[in-house]
Amino acid sequence: MMAKQSLQISLKWIIPILLLIFLLSFAWRRSAVKPSYVYYQETEIIKNKTLDTKILTEKTELVILVWVYPFGERFPLDICETAYGITGCKLTADRQLYNVADAVIIHHYDIMYNKNSLPQTPRPHYQRWVWFNLEPPLIIQNLHFLDNLFNLTMTFRQDSDVYIPYGRIEAVKEPQNITIPPKSKLVAWVVSKWYPGTPRIKYYEELKKYISVEIYGKKHLKLSRTDFHNTISQYRFYLAFENSIYKDYITEKIWSNAFGTWSVPVVLGTSRKNYERFIPGDAFIHVDDFPSAKELADFLLELDKDDERYRKYFNWRHRHKVTLNGGWASSYCKACRVLKQQSEYQVIPSVKTWFLENNSF
Ligand SMILES: *[C@@H]1O[C@H](CO)[C@@H](O)[C@H](O)[C@H]1NC(C)=O
Ligand SMILES: *[C@@H]1O[C@H](CO)[C@@H](O)[C@H](O)[C@H]1NC(C)=O
Repeated sequence: MMAKQSLQISLKWIIPILLLIFLLSFAWRRSAVKPSYVYYQETEIIKNKTLDTKILTEKTELVILVWVYPFGERFPLDICETAYGITGCKLTADRQLYNVADAVIIHHYDIMYNKNSLPQTPRPHYQRWVWFNLEPPLIIQNLHFLDNLFNLTMTFRQDSDVYIPYGRIEAVKEPQNITIPPKSKLVAWVVSKWYPGTPRIKYYEELKKYISVEIYGKKHLKLSRTDFHNTISQYRFYLAFENSIYKDYITEKIWSNAFGTWSVPVVLGTSRKNYERFIPGDAFIHVDDFPSAKELADFLLELDKDDERYRKYFNWRHRHKVTLNGGWASSYCKACRVLKQQSEYQVIPSVKTWFLENNSF
């Protein structure tokens, strides 16, 4: 009798408990790895590729299916022409249009836990699939899901079919006058993903022995989005440390956190040579410029006392300006533009190989 009653009670609770576990794990997953870029802007002119006029002449408008909104973030689908001057693109998120879509853009993070969340129905023979990913290997998984399915890559790597950098530097015609914000503090770092053992955490653990670093973010000093600029711009240096050392992986940490606040970036990430393909060499300090963290710290302390030398890190700004990536809409519109120009047959047998192995810099 007793046993039966308690069994009934536990049965009564089992469904709510399972539901709660499910919701909690979902919330945890979303908060754990959601990237922080919100600053997107139209990107660079696409690479010169042979222009096959087949699609251009046969079709006036390409239908591009946004298979999933990236990280669930909605964006306007109808602004390619008005905002970016890219014509002949119909972006849609309506999966009913799968059978007529010329291309399907699939954001990796949103399908990576379930192969069945990729389109399952046979594709029209002309339809191309675009692999969209702005995360380094550390953050994503299950690249083998993508074997023998995709036709184009769309990433921050410059050798992608659709190149989507986090930011870029452009020359300006007229030399600009510049005003460096007043500097009263030394080194700042804003960090959310604290993965112990990653290169940037190890480097920081060493660096902090020789110079004081003020850290903002989860479990550290609080910093609201509205205070971000005014707070960080008071620092002479900003640790633009990437969570991964990976080809062309140069993120908002330098573009918006450091350049956006006029704090001189100290970068840890891909090689100096790789950075210099995108950014003037005198615009940043690279941790690899020094044999040890102690020597980097000594150098920063020296610059702190030598204003004339410090100001040299702003010289490039007379002739260049920083442009941030313009948001999801601009990325999808750019993909459409590339799809219209590059219409030749192409397959990527293994996205995994391309992303994990074919990546020397
Ligand atoms: C820059 O400063 C100089 C000298 O103060 C001034 O003559 C010039 O007009 C300024 N240029 C711009 C673009 O503001
Ligand atoms: C796209 O890639 C798939 C799978 O590799 C291939 O079967 C298809 O023919 C390709 N389509 C185009 C238009 O390149």
